[in-house]
Amino acid sequence: MTQAPPKEAQRAPKGLFIETYGCQMNVYDSERMRDVLAPLGYAPVTKPDDADLVVLNTCHIREKATEKVYSEIGRLKAHKERRRAEGADMKIVIAGCVAQAEGEEIMARAPAVDLVVGPQAYHKLPELIARAARKTGERLAADFTAEEKFDALPARAADGVTAFLSIQEGCDKFCTFCVVPYTRGAEYSRPIADVLAEARSLAAQGVREITLLGQNVNAYHGGASFAGLLSALAEIEGVERLRYTTSHPTEMSDELIALHGTEPKLMPYLHLPVQSGSDRILKAMNRKHDSAHYRDIVARLRAARPGIALSTDFIVGFPGEAESDFEATLALVREVGFASAFSFKYSPRPGTPAAAMHAQIDETVKAERLARLQELLSTQQRAFNASQVGETLPILVAGPGRKIGQKHGRSPYLQAVHFDDAAARVGDIVPVRIIAASQNSLTGVADAMAVA
Ligand code: 5AD
Ligand code: SF4
Repeated sequence: MTQAPPKEAQRAPKGLFIETYGCQMNVYDSERMRDVLAPLGYAPVTKPDDADLVVLNTCHIREKATEKVYSEIGRLKAHKERRRAEGADMKIVIAGCVAQAEGEEIMARAPAVDLVVGPQAYHKLPELIARAARKTGERLAADFTAEEKFDALPARAADGVTAFLSIQEGCDKFCTFCVVPYTRGAEYSRPIADVLAEARSLAAQGVREITLLGQNVNAYHGGASFAGLLSALAEIEGVERLRYTTSHPTEMSDELIALHGTEPKLMPYLHLPVQSGSDRILKAMNRKHDSAHYRDIVARLRAARPGIALSTDFIVGFPGEAESDFEATLALVREVGFASAFSFKYSPRPGTPAAAMHAQIDETVKAERLARLQELLSTQQRAFNASQVGETLPILVAGPGRKIGQKHGRSPYLQAVHFDDAAARVGDIVPVRIIAASQNSLTGVADAMAVA
């Protein structure tokens, strides 16, 4: 027998479940969607089973990412039907880059979806969801700009001691493999005053570490150079650590490289995608830099900031990649030495120049090259982590660890660290002696000597 819910239950928050795929930009956007939906009574829940509204914030960068979206919609459809049988009306929203690129197709293929919304329209979510409550099948993808979105979003609610801060969106570089210029549009930099205001508000809410985000973050030109922006952020009280991602080699200015040597709040860890070690392939990718240029940047960064750790991205099996090109990639890895890296098989993206290139590489060759590259990169990552054993590192305490009395946090090199220190408080930066290392994390103990 179904009973009318009591009054309090009617007013109870509505469950919001956001599933995020892809890059940190999407992680940031998901937080902003949560903020924009809070005044409507939506509060986060941990499983889609309990949700009234499910948002899939999707990624279009590789084929697999897109496939996952369709299989996830299939799973959600089952929840939706079950909820409907219980008398609840669960809405499904598809956001992010797949929504932008394939909105019409999603609507046609997946009738369970109530709303499709592209990355520049999140500020319109409350209105769109109200509309979707009346009828399903709305599509709103390309009608807004990054500028309108940033201007319209509400003040930011911080969640923890670290935060992403989006300062730049879109890309004008047009690497031939990449879909981002088509899904995220032209480069846009947020005005410096807005960025500083958001950073001050985050610091006032207890954020100690800010990671600046943008598809081409170091191409920032919102009223100051990127290095100028970093220097201004470093002056904000409470902000102890600064990072940025993702940067492009051609935008590593002399000023920015020098700042790595002079600004202690800028963490000694940089994600700088190279994609390939072969000049022929870099040219075909339209990367606008060759491998010598990349090596030179690395040498100058290391001269400015000895000990700086590097991370990067690789694509293997780009059209026309010969074994000798791939060997050049391995040679670059051996020479530079990376603390961590992401590597992918080339995935043809509809509408990008490389997808139409001849000499697409066989999947088995791609898989074999990826395995060889990843083996080398894993060895380097393990060696880098192992090299920290015996060192004392300043760790930003983010929360409790796995065991009682333990805490967890991040090293300057972005490694996850679990350590024994009952006294350390969240938000402190404490000296921790590293006693063990694995591929993905470090273990440590509070360094009493250093504390004393
Ligand atoms: N295929 C495989 N990997 C890609 N990336 C971007 N586009 C593709 C593609 N078509 C990778 C690049 C980029 C990272 C975010 O994703 O390495 O730096
Ligand atoms: Fe994926 Fe790129 Fe979109 Fe981020 S911007 S979600 S990596 S396609």
